[in-house]
Amino acid sequence: MTRIPHESSGEPNPLQALTLDRLRQRTSMKWRTYPEDVLPLWVAEMDVPLAEPVVRAVTDALHLGDTGYPAGTAYAEALAAFAGKRWGWDGLAVERTALVPDVMLGVVEMLGLVTGPGDTVIVNPPVYPPFYQFVEHMGRRVAEAPLGADGRLDLDVLEEAFRRAVTDRRRAAHLLCSPHNPTGTVHTAAELSAVAALAERYGVRVVADEIHSPLVLGGTGFVPYLSVPGAERGLSLMSASKGWNLAGLKAALAIAGPGAAADLERMPEEVGHGAGHVAVIAHTAALRDGLIWLDALLAGLDAKRRLLADLLAEHLPGIRYRPGDATYLAWLDCRALGLGDDPADVFLRRGRVALSSGLPFGTGGTGHARLNLATPDEVLTKAVRAMAAALH
Ligand SMILES: Cc1ncc(COP(=O)(O)O)c(C=O)c1O
Repeated sequence: MTRIPHESSGEPNPLQALTLDRLRQRTSMKWRTYPEDVLPLWVAEMDVPLAEPVVRAVTDALHLGDTGYPAGTAYAEALAAFAGKRWGWDGLAVERTALVPDVMLGVVEMLGLVTGPGDTVIVNPPVYPPFYQFVEHMGRRVAEAPLGADGRLDLDVLEEAFRRAVTDRRRAAHLLCSPHNPTGTVHTAAELSAVAALAERYGVRVVADEIHSPLVLGGTGFVPYLSVPGAERGLSLMSASKGWNLAGLKAALAIAGPGAAADLERMPEEVGHGAGHVAVIAHTAALRDGLIWLDALLAGLDAKRRLLADLLAEHLPGIRYRPGDATYLAWLDCRALGLGDDPADVFLRRGRVALSSGLPFGTGGTGHARLNLATPDEVLTKAVRAMAAALH
């Protein structure tokens, strides 16, 4: 496991680089969905400037007019090298990867390869709401296997969900969120091996959404699902989009384990045409040359989690917050505040702070809200104070 050498790099903390005035000039969803007087700490966009190598690569491409269709395997090669360096995983075979437009469309493609209409897809709520929306939109049934009270996978509950899903000889898939959004849980090698063993026992196919994998704190290793024994028939989705804030530059990679290569080959290559060529250039530059920036970001997020915990202890001690080891999301248990099922609604109406409602995260979301802490200290501090003021 690579420890983060942030202090020696001299790279400034990207989370402290922008002012609120400057951020309000942005035109993306985070900044334009709510009126100007609302502090937006909801959708997973970060309030950071881009890593310089990414800016350079994209600027060079624009100057060259290199804005055609994507070609080649540079993105996959950069990801394979990154995986080797960061996670000590040398098993990412470029020939078992495919370009996809983004992670969620990649998830849909992978689920389409291993399940049929009416089959079940198991998810672990509380979980990223589009897992429900996309799965239902593609004509699959969502079944829940909730996380345990400790915020970790509950293997007994998962086994029962697998058992039910494959009755009547139906095919089924487990859509695993790793690391987990919204709790920031990093699944251990033992947990992932247990998932793989259960999946094999019941004939369930695992599709791992590993979009948050670059965002694991130093000292807590990310374990790629496909790296654990027994996961050979698994499929994974990875992308630089969360780690380097590139959601507006659409691209992601689907990765097959050795036992899933034939499945991935059935995906039409044309699916990859939905990824942007400039996006592929940006993601490739991030993975290849954006590690110093990423380490500075991770150090900044570590400090941000501590700041949030301190602010909540001081102003909103009724909120339960268990800092996760990954992502820039904080899952807030607000049930003790007596704000009803949807505290985010109260914080928005009375506090002018936009969080993500916990309700669409499925079972376990009631009385919870998700806060995006990838924002300058100034904004986070103002937001928590405004949330506290909303209670009076
Ligand atoms: C777990 C998870 N998967 C997928 C996405 C969306 O990724 P993309 O924009 O590449 O579809 C997000 C965005 O926040 C996410 O948290």
